[in-house]
Amino acid sequence: MVFTTDHDDGSWSVVSQVRQSPPVDPTSPYSTASLAGKTILITGGASGFGAAFARHWAQHGSHVFIGDVNDPLGHSLIADLRSAHPSQAFHYQHCDVTSWSDQLSLFKFALANSPGGVIEGVVAGAGIADMDNKFDDPRRASPESDEPREPPLKVLDVNLTGVAYTVHLGLFYLARNGTREDGQPRDRHIMLISSIAGIAPLPGQTEYTASKHAVMGLFRALRGTSWRRGVRVNCLNPYFVDTPILPASGIAILAGVPKAELEDVVDAATRLMADEDVKGRALVIGPKLQVYDEDGETKLVAEAPRKVVAKGGRVQAVWEIYAEDFERVEAFVWRYIGMMNVAKNMLGWVGVVTDLWRLCVSGKKRR
Ligand SMILES: NC(=O)c1ccc[n+]([C@@H]2O[C@H](COP(=O)([O-])OP(=O)(O)OC[C@H]3O[C@@H](n4cnc5c(N)ncnc54)[C@H](O)[C@@H]3O)[C@@H](O)[C@H]2O)c1
Repeated sequence: MVFTTDHDDGSWSVVSQVRQSPPVDPTSPYSTASLAGKTILITGGASGFGAAFARHWAQHGSHVFIGDVNDPLGHSLIADLRSAHPSQAFHYQHCDVTSWSDQLSLFKFALANSPGGVIEGVVAGAGIADMDNKFDDPRRASPESDEPREPPLKVLDVNLTGVAYTVHLGLFYLARNGTREDGQPRDRHIMLISSIAGIAPLPGQTEYTASKHAVMGLFRALRGTSWRRGVRVNCLNPYFVDTPILPASGIAILAGVPKAELEDVVDAATRLMADEDVKGRALVIGPKLQVYDEDGETKLVAEAPRKVVAKGGRVQAVWEIYAEDFERVEAFVWRYIGMMNVAKNMLGWVGVVTDLWRLCVSGKKRR
């Protein structure tokens, strides 16, 4: 266990102890080869991002399990995937992510029906927004009453409790199968979907903003500990994309404003799912921007255009964020990570001693 105090002010870094990978260069190429044969479970996968991931990853050979409340869309997506890729496994199961038993059943179903008997990737994709936003206006939520009514908090139920259940189940089941048939370590990955609302406020979307900030809290804490379970955790933070989650009123408010594009969200998600070296990173997906690099800085030429006009310019929509959490940590994090390392190392020795002891005992019995 070696801690680095590699900053001039002597502050501690635990980046290597939490196995966090260096910041992603979203302009660098990546291979999708590792997606072939992987079993990936997607909540909220019947529509929008989840459905687009399923279609794209299926093209690269993945098996996909989808849980959603939109049964007609879920079944029709699975029918499409089965007919396009008959040699792979695709299943849909009704799952309300706010129900622990629904999610438990989805994970068990996926394990039982996955070709390899394992789940390698999990996307916590189910989410809702509430454009009505009665949360900020209790009088509208409780008309003709002097008494305030209990707010529904459905957005928090789906976007936070639902995601927390998915993560907990992912950590439980993914941690079980650490080794592939060929003896190599198996990649296990949980991908969270926060939002631009996870890093900036969306006034008028209070519950949604709170839920997506909470997902960032989950992500930022979890990426410091999930390595213990052999699971990598990454996160997507998309800007507005035209999917069914945005009602017509939301699209109207965004009229004339550049939006992010589904293909870029799929690209960022595919990088995180396929590149097994990416650990503990979050990517923002924004509108396509035309940029160029000068004096170590990225400069904006213009919004959007697919045609690069500036010399040396490029079009970029995906950006790395939150690079620094574990680069400078205070005593609590430093000591806590240290204790976890010690405990893990000790467990290793306890495991060896226990195995040897069992061997002796069974050996005695054999004699
Ligand atoms: N589209 C955007 O602009 C945008 C931006 C940032 C983040 N996001 C996030 O991306 C995720 C996917 O959203 P999307 O844009 O694909 O929208 P979407 O509406 O197309 O997909 C969300 C899916 O979640 C499902 N769902 C809703 N409640 C559920 C529940 N209780 N149990 C199970 N499934 C449920 C829906 O049926 C739907 O299939 C959400 O978490 C959303 O907050 C979207």
